[in-house]
Amino acid sequence: MPAVSFAAPSSQSFEVVPLAGEVGVEIIGLDLSQPLNDAGFARIHKAHLDYHVVIFRDQRITPQQQVDFSRRFGVLQIHVLKQFLLANHPEILIVSNVVENGQPIGLGDAGKYWHSDLSYKELPSLGSMLHAQELPCEGGDTLFANMHRAWDTLPQNLREAVEGKSAVHSYVSRYSEGKNADNWRPKLTPEQLAQVVEVTHPIVRTHPENGRKALFVSEGFTTRIVGLPDDESRDLLAQLYAHSVLPEHVYRHQWQARDMVFWDNRSLIHLAAGCPPALRRTLYRTTIQGDAPF
Ligand code: SIN
Repeated sequence: MPAVSFAAPSSQSFEVVPLAGEVGVEIIGLDLSQPLNDAGFARIHKAHLDYHVVIFRDQRITPQQQVDFSRRFGVLQIHVLKQFLLANHPEILIVSNVVENGQPIGLGDAGKYWHSDLSYKELPSLGSMLHAQELPCEGGDTLFANMHRAWDTLPQNLREAVEGKSAVHSYVSRYSEGKNADNWRPKLTPEQLAQVVEVTHPIVRTHPENGRKALFVSEGFTTRIVGLPDDESRDLLAQLYAHSVLPEHVYRHQWQARDMVFWDNRSLIHLAAGCPPALRRTLYRTTIQGDAPF
């Protein structure tokens, strides 16, 4: 029998350089279009758990390479808005403010409110990757708020008010037809509505991999606290939101050409800061499924 040789994925040498503060790490010298061996992958995985936002600069990768790299972290989630999925790559959601021939090419209001991706699902996202395709010359930043910090620094009265409680997360509540003035979100079909039935998650979750507690509510998708009257629920949520996004909890990402950014939706909420509407901004997003929050 002829000898078969297996070529192990080559090891790439790269640096892991934390940014100032608790959130954000830059990976220098790694080319995601090339194979990454298990040891290299383990370093990226650890950086993700420790710093929550991992920045890969100048990545000249194809959509398939983004999908393949994302899949190493878990099962990919397909967004309910099928019209904004990249042709032949349904795992990629096009995030874009570009309108061509009167039709939006992507989801133009993605990230308009602070949120954790797909928190309205039973199995919300572990993390998401955004790969910059076209960036505006002004604005377009993405902000990330550290929800571990938000929990660690939450005043005692608020801690006591939320510990052991759950909250409802809903896609439809914010994005049902008629509520979105910009009209990026078309009416959902009955099949789509069945994919976004509201769910309940603990307000304080434990990260399944780093063991830290984090607040898990956001203005984007959380609608009410289970068991509280509406006015009390609204008031308590407003206080949690305000505390979560205090400036000292926030890292602001200023995009550079071809950045790929991978964040942890179990540790962070995020917000697209927006850019002047005349400037084009397009990114490709993959979303990795996580565990049921506990
Ligand atoms: C998102 O929320 O996934 C999009 C964030 C952004 O466009 O900056």
